[in-house]
Amino acid sequence: MEKPLPTPIPRHIAIIMDGNGRWARARGLPRLKGHEAGAESVRRVLRAARKYGVKYVTLYAFSVENWSRPAIEVRGLMRLLRTFLKANESELHENRTRLRVMGRRSDLPAATDRELARIEAATACYDERQLVLCLSYGGRTEIAAAARKIAEEAAAGALDPAAVDEAAVASRLYLPDVPDPDLVVRTSGERRLSNFLLWQCAYAEFLSTSVAWPDFGEDDFRTALEEFSRRHRRFGGLGPDAGPSA
Ligand code: FPP
Repeated sequence: MEKPLPTPIPRHIAIIMDGNGRWARARGLPRLKGHEAGAESVRRVLRAARKYGVKYVTLYAFSVENWSRPAIEVRGLMRLLRTFLKANESELHENRTRLRVMGRRSDLPAATDRELARIEAATACYDERQLVLCLSYGGRTEIAAAARKIAEEAAAGALDPAAVDEAAVASRLYLPDVPDPDLVVRTSGERRLSNFLLWQCAYAEFLSTSVAWPDFGEDDFRTALEEFSRRHRRFGGLGPDAGPSA
């Protein structure tokens, strides 16, 4: 008999897919083999997210810092991304999943960016679920870009500096309509955010699992949901068992 669903189910899970390189090295394989295996985990996790009713999945696929990796690895990752898109586009449509990209898109190879833009446009009609790929993404870069927009609008007289509040910043981030993540999962044992969604994760629950990303599967996804269901989110307020204030 199936176990009952953990509740509540997070609306948005963001994942730092770490450990591909270590997974490959442990098997005497080149790092790119680890990334290839990681792309299979992406497929598994998207299926699991669908099964459990998680509407938004955001994946940290390539950071602004990742450009400093050896050219052969960077090229391999870009190739893998294109292969992934080709192999999974029909599944995005079948499952009515909207693809979104967030990051400094102008850094991406032009053909890759065009392909991403084409699929984004073709899936923009879907509202059931969204897959957000962070590509050439950095949290500080994103916040700095929002600050630049605000400064430009203020300098042009279109924005009153006194009106700059949290909503003003949030509305100038890459994908302002995507709700903040409820849960951030990082695989392979690290406990860092590594410049991931710095603004959006202000109140996200953080979960570090020792499982390497290429080994991460539906059971691990469910374990993460179960852990989330045990967390008490207070958003800076008080929980029901806080006791008297004075
Ligand atoms: C971090 O592991 C992972 C990456 C920098 C790339 C993530 C890419 C994928 C999972 C594959 C492609 C993704 C999509 C969406 C098709 P690492 O290389 O830093 O691992 P290590 O810390 O063990 O070296």
